[in-house]
Amino acid sequence: MDALDGWILALLAVAVALYYNFATIKDILYGDTDKSIGVSSASGSRDIATVIKECDKDYIVFYGSQTGTAEDYAKMFAKELVGRFSLKVMCADLENFDFETLNELPANVIVSFFISTYGEGDFPDGAVPFEEFLTSLDETEQPLNKLRFTMFGLGNSTYEFFNNAAKKATKNMTESGATLIGRLGSGDDGAATTDEDYLAWKEVVLDDIKDALALNEHEQVYEPSFKYTVLLGQDTEADPESISLGEPTKQYLPCNELPFSKQLNVQTGPFNNAFPYLAPMVRSKELFAPESNRNCIHAEFDLSGSNIKYSTGDHLAVWPSNTNEAVQLFIAAFDLNEDEVFDLTPADPTVVLPFPCPTTIGSVVRYYLEITGPISRQFFSALVQFAPNNSIRTRLSELSKDKDLFATEIHSKCFNVADAVLYLSNDMPWKTVPFEFLIESVPLLKPRYYSISSSSMTEKQTVHITAIVEENVTAEDSPVKSTFGVTTNLLRNMELSQNDDETTMEHTSVSYNLDGPRNLFQDYKLPVYVRRSTFKLPMNPKTPVIMIGPGTGVAPFRGFIRDRVKYASQEANANAPLGKHLLFYGCRNQNDFLYQDEWPSYATALDGALEMFVGFSRLPDTPKRYVQDLLKENESQVVTLLKQGAFIYVCGEAKGMAQGVHAALVDIISRGMFISTEDATEMVKMMKTSGKYQEDVW
Ligand SMILES: Cc1cc2nc3c(=O)[nH]c(=O)nc-3n(C[C@H](O)[C@H](O)[C@H](O)COP(=O)(O)OP(=O)(O)OC[C@H]3O[C@@H](n4cnc5c(N)ncnc54)[C@H](O)[C@@H]3O)c2cc1C
Ligand SMILES: Cc1cc2nc3c(=O)[nH]c(=O)nc-3n(C[C@H](O)[C@H](O)[C@H](O)COP(=O)(O)O)c2cc1C
Ligand SMILES: *[C@@H]1O[C@H](CO)[C@@H](O)[C@H](O)[C@H]1NC(C)=O
Ligand SMILES: *[C@@H]1O[C@H](CO)[C@@H](O)[C@H](O)[C@H]1NC(C)=O
Ligand SMILES: *[C@@H]1O[C@H](CO)[C@@H](O)[C@H](O)[C@H]1NC(C)=O
Ligand SMILES: *[C@@H]1O[C@H](CO)[C@@H](O)[C@H](O)[C@H]1NC(C)=O
Ligand SMILES: *[C@@H]1O[C@H](CO)[C@@H](O)[C@H](O)[C@H]1NC(C)=O
Repeated sequence: MDALDGWILALLAVAVALYYNFATIKDILYGDTDKSIGVSSASGSRDIATVIKECDKDYIVFYGSQTGTAEDYAKMFAKELVGRFSLKVMCADLENFDFETLNELPANVIVSFFISTYGEGDFPDGAVPFEEFLTSLDETEQPLNKLRFTMFGLGNSTYEFFNNAAKKATKNMTESGATLIGRLGSGDDGAATTDEDYLAWKEVVLDDIKDALALNEHEQVYEPSFKYTVLLGQDTEADPESISLGEPTKQYLPCNELPFSKQLNVQTGPFNNAFPYLAPMVRSKELFAPESNRNCIHAEFDLSGSNIKYSTGDHLAVWPSNTNEAVQLFIAAFDLNEDEVFDLTPADPTVVLPFPCPTTIGSVVRYYLEITGPISRQFFSALVQFAPNNSIRTRLSELSKDKDLFATEIHSKCFNVADAVLYLSNDMPWKTVPFEFLIESVPLLKPRYYSISSSSMTEKQTVHITAIVEENVTAEDSPVKSTFGVTTNLLRNMELSQNDDETTMEHTSVSYNLDGPRNLFQDYKLPVYVRRSTFKLPMNPKTPVIMIGPGTGVAPFRGFIRDRVKYASQEANANAPLGKHLLFYGCRNQNDFLYQDEWPSYATALDGALEMFVGFSRLPDTPKRYVQDLLKENESQVVTLLKQGAFIYVCGEAKGMAQGVHAALVDIISRGMFISTEDATEMVKMMKTSGKYQEDVW
């Protein structure tokens, strides 16, 4: 054995040791919060067959979810399997398991998958190891020939690769010998039908599962996944410092210490999606002119107290909290005692606590539940059993079974949970709904993502975001006057408070507890985390770049351009000039022209390398001009750059824009390069696959 081999073996040994000690290491890093973030069996094993055996389960529901939608549906599905068939279901994140023994599950175990699609047809981050497992399979050996599974994908048909992850997983598994039960379900956010797609799919697949496992069905009953214990004031053993009042994670409780590096003088986390960093918003401003009736907030978060790094084009995840108004309404609607302190004990080791416990009802409603989003029909059917009286029960049951009735009576009125139940009971509070049911049935409050608008080359540890404040969308005939936009209204309230704009503050329709639990968020802090993205400038600065970003879609391009300004200012690059950079931007009029005071200085600094095209869509007596129109007007320049190998970047709110731009580019390419529309479409598809056409749309 030569020296090199020995060295590799040593590395391997370290890797193996690390692997087997992973649970232990995690234990040290996270302490007992581990339970709430995901190790899923008594022994901490990641081996699927082992866990199923140890925990005595007979059904698995797996989810791969980027922002929690797939997770919500997986949990609903799992609850229904328990409620109707008394199955012993484990519902878990794909992230927490290894799959080598997927084919060695007991014969009666079916696995249901809920997988969303991200990026350009990609698996969610946490499901990438699962994807790798699937691609590594050798189909000639039929390595999954004993597996029976169901699949529901979550996606958006406005994307090119619609539900690609779920389709790919299904294909790989069936080709490896597994049996798909029911059809491959696909939820479509693009048509806003995810909920109905799910219900239609579920209806049939539950029957198939019932047949496949010869199950007995009974009236759906709610079986809590955890034991709910009220802790009474003085009698309780609980240390007051260990009671969560809405802290993002256990680490932030006064009884614990945050991981800190004395050497580096920073908090070390390790920060991730389950452990955000509390970053101070050090600067903020309103970007729209006072004449505009809308608001857009520029906010700067300082990460220098942490070891979090970012790079231009990444996303910032921001955790909101609910408004005082929404919290009060929810508490009133279910006649809850805000101050009640309680603890949750998982019914079995595979159940993951949704937030740090013990805690109080008020904290859960304010910090952990998504109480203002639209409600699902599924939620109504689960709620039937807790209706306060028979007439309401009948009505609720009717609404939950009739898709069209639900759409006109509930959905179109933009009700949230509290609005809806109060509407059904003529404002009488519902005293009959157990709080543990609400914890399990109302979605958890999720972080929102923002495209970072700063440059990691100029602002190494300060992250800028550009957030447009959601407008009221309440339908005209709706009895509720809810304000939407939990996160963006929070950012706006913080901005107004930070800049001491008291007069405007009085006119905002909602208010927040900006200081957070135990004043933890004081001085404008919010829980944040940086999510890596693949939306990156080409490596070679000479490569031409075409950026298309109307509205807040310009956010990452501000970062890109600041990157290039920094590049151009460095002496070492004096002899390596930048390629041409075109920026296509659109807005309503001068009042909402984002960062209008900054662009001229960037153009000067880049000395001709940057050219900006701006179109307005709401100028009086002027035809609307969108980014697609701008592209066509300057089509020859676009074609010239594409022939030189330009990269294309599209960013913004999906709502048809990304598709419109796609169509315009196909048109331009087909004309400019004298090829058919089909060939131009194919060419754009190839650009997408090879990363030369990147989208950051939401
Ligand atoms: C990758 C990515 C990047 C993004 N980048 C940016 C960015 O740079 N800038 C930016 O401004 N945004 C960006 N977004 C969008 C952002 O994440 C948020 O979705 C957006 O700011 C709204 O969040 P919110 O909490 O304020 O609104 P929410 O409270 O989540 O409400 C959003 C919308 O949901 C609907 N809604 C809410 N409740 C109801 C109800 N009861 N009934 C019916 N409809 C309802 C309304 O239409 C409302 O406007 C990005 C999203 C992604 C995924
Ligand atoms: C940045 C981004 C990229 C997306 N890419 C795709 C895609 O390529 N194909 C698709 O079908 N859906 C795509 N979607 C839509 C999501 O899959 C869909 O909204 C889903 O409901 C999200 O589920 P999750 O919250 O469980 O991750 C994308 C959404 C976002 C925000
Ligand atoms: C799984 O899919 C990948 C990519 O789609 C493919 O390369 C591979 O051969 C597939 N494997 C099996 C077993 O189907
Ligand atoms: C999906 O597409 C629709 C229509 O283009 C868009 O309005 C919506 O915001 C998209 N949803 C998500 C979650 O990206
Ligand atoms: C049920 O409650 C509603 C409103 O709270 C009331 O209008 C209705 O009469 C009640 N029905 C019965 C049968 O008690
Ligand atoms: C939204 O609704 C609230 C409450 O009715 C109101 O005060 C506010 O002015 C509205 N905002 C906009 C932008 O219409
Ligand atoms: C882009 O198109 C507009 C409208 O046709 C035109 O006025 C402008 O000169 C063009 N710009 C360039 C650089 O060609």
